[in-house]
Amino acid sequence: MIPRIFITGASGFVGGTTTGALRKAHPDYEVVVLVRNEGQVNTLRQAWPDVEIIIGTLDDDGILATEGGKADVVLHIASSDHMNAPQSIIAGMGRGKKGRFIHISGTGVINDVSTSLGDESTKVYDDVKDIQEIINLPMTAYHRSVDDAVIISGQEYGVPTAIICPPMIHGVGKGPCKKRSIQIPILIEAIVERGRAFTVGQGNNKWDHIHVRDLANAIVLMVEEALKPNGGAATWGPQGYYFVEAGEFAWREISAELAHLLHAQAKIASSEVDKLTVEEATKVHWWAPVLWGGNSRSRASRIRTLEWMPDITTVSPTLPEMIQQVLK
Ligand SMILES: NC(=O)c1ccc[n+]([C@@H]2O[C@H](COP(=O)([O-])OP(=O)(O)OC[C@H]3O[C@@H](n4cnc5c(N)ncnc54)[C@H](OP(=O)(O)O)[C@@H]3O)[C@@H](O)[C@H]2O)c1
Repeated sequence: MIPRIFITGASGFVGGTTTGALRKAHPDYEVVVLVRNEGQVNTLRQAWPDVEIIIGTLDDDGILATEGGKADVVLHIASSDHMNAPQSIIAGMGRGKKGRFIHISGTGVINDVSTSLGDESTKVYDDVKDIQEIINLPMTAYHRSVDDAVIISGQEYGVPTAIICPPMIHGVGKGPCKKRSIQIPILIEAIVERGRAFTVGQGNNKWDHIHVRDLANAIVLMVEEALKPNGGAATWGPQGYYFVEAGEFAWREISAELAHLLHAQAKIASSEVDKLTVEEATKVHWWAPVLWGGNSRSRASRIRTLEWMPDITTVSPTLPEMIQQVLK
């Protein structure tokens, strides 16, 4: 029987890259995507003529439940923060085929500002060793209440769930619509607009990184496991929580490299990096403390047990193409 995969967010950066990778690895799969408007339908139809496209939003509970019920695997990539959508999909899956549900969260959930903004924290969350701590993080943590709703809905409706939790995603997306990430592209814009590079405080705070293609490959691997008897070697349910990282960096390193690259292209007048106070950084960008000021340190031990390995292990090689994408 041909597996049917329902995907939300296929017009996005992660969802577009993932849908492309899935089609390439498994051209025989029946892929169904949800998009919001006719413009996206036309673009996707040209790129992926064999993909079934449904127009709707994450608020269309009926559509989500129906498509969930027909799918062998659901990839919910459109939002880490929409509360009702995963609940509606999982409820529909429970009444239908009872496939497997894969949700995309984000390591904002472990954002650590216990030191001053711009300083390194010591806590590193390992998704095998620290799984109990991770799935019991306070509900005030970013994305946490939706992660919890996914786990609880899966248990309630007998639907195996997995949560994939990426850190800072870099690279240029391969999907037909949105191809841009968030943290580094916004930093490039902010540096060029300000005319000089900067860090929040000392910039010693650390995050992990993953290239969008390596993330897409991890998600495809999870789909493959989902389709094996009993969900293959993957973990499902409350402990099915997967960080996906390829290493870590301090934000001062990214700012220094961007300063050098942008100065070499005459986009800014100096290759020096200013250390801004939190107040100064917030004036440059309202989200500066969240985007570039905290720590988010994860270890992706669980996905590595499935023999996933990232190809791109540093951010540096993709900075020039991200600069080109932002400034074109
Ligand atoms: N980018 C990162 O660095 C990063 C890091 C960690 C986690 N994540 C998570 O990864 C997921 C995808 O992020 P992304 O960077 O790929 O974002 P994105 O490029 O904005 O893609 C999200 C896609 O979902 C669609 N979507 C959003 N809300 C929707 C709604 N209410 N109804 C229907 N479609 C909706 C959007 O459609 P439209 O095009 O119509 O708006 C868009 O195509 C998010 O959950 C995000 O939190 C991202």
